Amino acid sequence: MSFSSFELLDHARPIVVFGKDGQVGKALQKCLKDLKIPAIFLGRSDCDLSSESSITEVLNRYQPQVIINAAAYTAVDKAEVVAERDVVFAINSKAPALMARYIANVSHGILVHYSTDYVFADTKQTAYLESDATGPVDQLCIYGWSKLAGEEAIEEAFNATHETGYDLVQGPENASGHISYQDKFSRYFILRTSWVYGEGGNFIRTMLRLAGERDQLKVVADQVGAPTSAQWLAEVGVQIAGSRVESGIYHAVPDGETSWHGLAVFVIETAASCGEGVEVKSENILPIPAIDYSVPAARPYNSRLSNQKIKKALSLMAFTGQYPHWRDQVEKYVKQVVEESLKS
Ligand SMILES: NC(=O)c1ccc[n+]([C@@H]2O[C@H](COP(=O)([O-])OP(=O)(O)OC[C@H]3O[C@@H](n4cnc5c(N)ncnc54)[C@H](OP(=O)(O)O)[C@@H]3O)[C@@H](O)[C@H]2O)c1
Repeated sequence: MSFSSFELLDHARPIVVFGKDGQVGKALQKCLKDLKIPAIFLGRSDCDLSSESSITEVLNRYQPQVIINAAAYTAVDKAEVVAERDVVFAINSKAPALMARYIANVSHGILVHYSTDYVFADTKQTAYLESDATGPVDQLCIYGWSKLAGEEAIEEAFNATHETGYDLVQGPENASGHISYQDKFSRYFILRTSWVYGEGGNFIRTMLRLAGERDQLKVVADQVGAPTSAQWLAEVGVQIAGSRVESGIYHAVPDGETSWHGLAVFVIETAASCGEGVEVKSENILPIPAIDYSVPAARPYNSRLSNQKIKKALSLMAFTGQYPHWRDQVEKYVKQVVEESLKS
């Protein structure tokens, strides 16, 4: 792999990863360690992202040149509790705003931030493009609204700095001897994704557990999206951070789509093919409409995200392998989980 922009890093200034104990955070730890890229990994006890002073203190202490933010308030149903609202917005919107204001003023600074399909409120039946309108906010759940506010705060911080901040980011001479301001600009990447699974609690692990306990399952069949591997998301985040691609929003999901019901059937059939602990037969995984599965936060029916933009960007980088399909990644993951459970 080559990391063109990483070569421009001021090695006195580190890469800082927030959210080290989450699914994507754990995958980032593995990915950066495998690539032997040094980084500082921070969890809740190192920096409370609901506290502005805690974030400022950490940014001043480490003075990072690259931030990868994999932390978020992800308990979507708990986020609906009115008393939680301030903390949800502090973590999902104010914290990324502070990170963005900081990185926007750093020469060659990079902010990678993960976001979500929940910023869209079923205004379309087909896959959303990065350029599609988000919201409307009054139809988003609190989690979706707070993540959208985080995206907007990042864009605002970078736009404000780049409109007024040429003096802060004077560029080096390019090959033709001209000053290229572009070359020293800080950049941000907002990676919207969906249906993440990795190390930690997630839908796939829940289905595997229930498949060993019950002989019938009812699973929502009218919400559609793409299950996305945390490990792959970490690799994309690291790859894009080290690339020359332009700032912006990118939809980071594999190819293909399915419903929660389709995913459950696939997961359980894959586990059964490994001969392990499956009580329920796939014909006893019953499809139900979302309306019959009552939860406090409304989930999108349409979680399809177009991945054409990121595919093009990755094709310019070291990602030479085939772009993944969700089925291949889920199959590998289920086999791994089954293997781990057999060992323990
Ligand atoms: N999971 C999904 O299905 C999904 C779908 C679309 C987008 N995303 C986005 O992808 C990103 C990564 O998601 P994930 O699945 O890896 O989430 P996750 O497993 O829930 O991890 C989130 C991490 O954020 C940390 N965090 C929460 N509040 C914090 C605070 N006040 N201070 C410091 N750290 C705090 C948590 O710390 P603790 O470990 O201490 O709780 C946790 O480690 C997020 O931006 C999320 O919005 C996720």
